[in-house]
Amino acid sequence: MNILVTGGAGFIGSHTLIELYKAGHIAVVIDNLSNSHPEALNRVAEIVGSRQQAVSIPFYKVDIRDRDALEKVFSKHHFDACIHFAGLKAVGESVEKPWEYYENNIGGTLTLVDVMRRHGCKNVIFSSSATVYGDPVEIPITENCPKGQCTNPYGWTKSMLEQILMDMQKADSEWTVVLLRYFNPVGAHPSGRIGENPNGIPNNLMPYITQVAVGKRKELGVFGNDYPTPDGTGVRDYIHVCDLANAHVAALQCFSQDFKHSDNRTFIYNVGTGNGYSVLDMVNAFVRVNGVDIPYSIKPRRAGDIATCYCNPSKAKSELGWQAKYGIDDMVRDSWNWQRQNPEGY
Ligand code: NAD
Ligand code: UD1
Repeated sequence: MNILVTGGAGFIGSHTLIELYKAGHIAVVIDNLSNSHPEALNRVAEIVGSRQQAVSIPFYKVDIRDRDALEKVFSKHHFDACIHFAGLKAVGESVEKPWEYYENNIGGTLTLVDVMRRHGCKNVIFSSSATVYGDPVEIPITENCPKGQCTNPYGWTKSMLEQILMDMQKADSEWTVVLLRYFNPVGAHPSGRIGENPNGIPNNLMPYITQVAVGKRKELGVFGNDYPTPDGTGVRDYIHVCDLANAHVAALQCFSQDFKHSDNRTFIYNVGTGNGYSVLDMVNAFVRVNGVDIPYSIKPRRAGDIATCYCNPSKAKSELGWQAKYGIDDMVRDSWNWQRQNPEGY
């Protein structure tokens, strides 16, 4: 298929490009590079190319809010589908700059899907998040679990965009909408050439751990050890980014007319492993597998955090034939391999 990948220079987008090319798809990337580096795309090309055949990834430095620029890209290329990663994702920043988050994520997506439909491209895979479940009413979380109250504007952009895309699909049956609810993506391509490249102080656990390991931060703060979990620290469903990338390739089958004969062509999948690991499980695995010490101290709970969040991923397995292959040891090894080789990122 010919696929438009928005946000393709970012963490999950760059890994997905590799799996798309491996599966024989053609991808065109648009990204405004607000949270990424063009070097990521050079490295993707290096990974997917061979000595016999160099690959260059078609790239447009375009903002999804820029209708004219999008029009130009759509006039030049025919797309069968769009995998839509582009968006701002820093939870804390979204609390300080709600307008910027709603305008970029919601405004941008509204413009994007309007240009898509004008050009007859009505197939979209949207990067949603486990955050839409709020404090989940069931663990493990299935897709039938009701959506909940988000604790920040970033989470609301995901929840609202799900609703917007579902409503568009309901009104126009030519659309097929796939909502992938990611759990906690970590790891990096096993080559160590591409990985997560956060700006400033990382908010998320794994990049914080790798920055402690590489000597950029003194110690990890563990946010609370009094949760009702086996060791008192928060439990999450960490998923290797290459597994997550593959879930997008698997989800492309939703666009085939043979896929599940149903009028409702909105498909929702949890994308996780189904395993819950605590903060200390992750730290201990990192130390054991990589032989690097991670000093840490216990800090107060972080506002908005929940105790436990992991999914039941069986719907993706039964309907898409997708399941995670990588385990916790692979996740901590590949995260470290990337950070060690690229201490300053790209
Ligand atoms: P990322 O920041 O690495 O990638 C997002 C990309 O989108 C960046 O390259 C950025 O430059 C680009 N972008 C942002 N706004 C844009 C705009 N207006 N126009 C064009 N490009 C724009 O983030 P990621 O971790 O790869 O996440 C990808 C998607 O998955 C995001 O939508 C994110 O919210 C979602 N998601 C991420 C996680 C996670 O933990 N990483 C979890 C759940 C959902
Ligand atoms: C966070 C976001 C969520 C977003 C997801 C992926 C919040 C409240 N939630 O999820 O909306 O979709 O990232 O981007 O921010 N931890 C520490 N020390 C740290 C960092 C984290 O102990 O320095 C703990 C947290 O308390 C949590 C676990 O590690 O228990 C995972 O945290 P994180 O990686 O930030 O992901 P989430 O909080 O699950």
